[in-house]
Amino acid sequence: MPEPDIERVLLDAEVIRERIRGLAREISATYGEREITAVGVLTGAFVFLADLLRELPNPTRVIFARACSYRDGSRPGELEVELVGRPDLTGRDVLLVEDIVDTGRSLLRLGQVLRDAGSRSVRSVVLLDKRERREVEARADFTGFEVPDEFLVGYGLDYADRYRHLPYVGVLARSVYAEPA
Ligand code: IMP
Ligand code: MG
Repeated sequence: MPEPDIERVLLDAEVIRERIRGLAREISATYGEREITAVGVLTGAFVFLADLLRELPNPTRVIFARACSYRDGSRPGELEVELVGRPDLTGRDVLLVEDIVDTGRSLLRLGQVLRDAGSRSVRSVVLLDKRERREVEARADFTGFEVPDEFLVGYGLDYADRYRHLPYVGVLARSVYAEPA
C-alpha cells in the first residue's frame, strides 16, 4: 500500500530495477569499456544515479550539477548551471543523468554547458520523460519510461523536498498541493 498522499503507484520498485538493468546494457553497449563521467543533476537524480551506476560495468567518475531558473518579472530567465567543485571535463565522455524531462529546458541547457566544458562527448540518460510537455527540442539518448503529464514523486522526485525516499514513482494526490476551498 502506498502512503496516503500518493494517489497511485505508476512504477513500482521491481519495474524500475528491471528497466535500469536494460538501460545499463544499452549504455555499456554504446561506450564499450571506456570510462564514463556521470553528471548527476541535483537533487532529483541522486537515487537513479546510484542505482544506475551500480548496474554499469564501466569505470565511472561522478560529479554533480545544479540547474536553477531565475525569473525577473514575467520573463523566464536563463537557466543557470553550476558544476559542483568545478571539475575539469576536458576529453571526458560525459553522461548526463537526470530524473525527468518535462519542458526540456534543463536538459538542453545542461547539454550546452557540458559541451562547452571541453568534453569529448556528451550523452544523456533520463529515467522519466513527459514527452507531451516539451517546449524546446531536447531528447535524451537513453530513456527509461515515457510517463503521463501528472505530478510525480518518489525515487528521487519531490514535492517541496518531500517524498524523494519512496522506492517507487507515484502520482501525488491533488489534495496535497491544491488550495483548500
Ligand atoms: P524541465 O527543464 O522543464 O524539463 O524540468 C525538468 C525538472 O523539473 C526535473 O529535473 C524535475 O526537477 C522537475 N519536474 C518535472 N516534472 C516533475 C514531476 O512530475 N515531479 C517532480 N519534479 C518534476
Ligand atoms: Mg531535476
